[in-house]
Amino acid sequence: GRCETSRREDSMSMSSRVPVLAIDGPSGTGKGTVGSHIAKTRGWHLLDSGALYRAFAFAANEQGIAPDDIEGINALDRETEFAFETTVSGEVEIRVNGREVSMRVRGEQGGRLASMYAAVPAVRSRLIKHQRSRRQDPGLVADGRDMGTVVFPDATLKIFLTASPEIRAQRRYNQLKSKDFDVTLRGLEAQIAERDQQDASRAVAPLVAASDAVVIDTSRRGIGEIVEEVDGLLSIRLRDYD
Ligand code: C5P
Repeated sequence: GRCETSRREDSMSMSSRVPVLAIDGPSGTGKGTVGSHIAKTRGWHLLDSGALYRAFAFAANEQGIAPDDIEGINALDRETEFAFETTVSGEVEIRVNGREVSMRVRGEQGGRLASMYAAVPAVRSRLIKHQRSRRQDPGLVADGRDMGTVVFPDATLKIFLTASPEIRAQRRYNQLKSKDFDVTLRGLEAQIAERDQQDASRAVAPLVAASDAVVIDTSRRGIGEIVEEVDGLLSIRLRDYD
């Protein structure tokens, strides 16, 4: 598979000079919102790695490729083009071979599928190169589960966001409701807990804060405040960068 936005990197040393803000954490902690704000104001690229896992899992599932079918997974990756476009409102539009699939993959069903395929080492290793190819000037904001631990271990700044399960479920509920998804708060609480459990307990790239990540609890704070804190930390790191 190719990424529309990907470009050949001249060398690892060149691309690693491009600054990266890695934002990890479970669903509903505000990663996406904080990340897209900062990417927008700084004019940096944005990588919503969850969208990549969702799109890949959707395509695999639709074509009947089981998570343990390594040959099928590799063939799918070769034959499929995944494209992501950030709209003016900061939403990421997801296309699989040109087909817009955002609504189909954004719900909890899509999250569950993503989490299932994301536990497979072959899937993760195929998707790593797509993610690293997004590291382009003037900088990259990357959000996901393993941005700071696996994909960009040399990130300029690593943030790990947390929040209480109730607040995360409520945020996901508001988010999905606003996109006309048919969800209940109770149902989401259970689905999010199950997905976290699966993501945190897998053998490869489990959901865990990097040892050098700054951990921020977003439960009782407004998004604007978090954005300001993270952006301030980033400015300090960038000063020492060159
Ligand atoms: O972030 P989002 O909720 O869209 O991610 C969907 C799923 O994709 C996660 O629950 C996780 O299983 C997987 N994922 C991952 N690594 C990432 C991003 C997402 O395993 N970097």
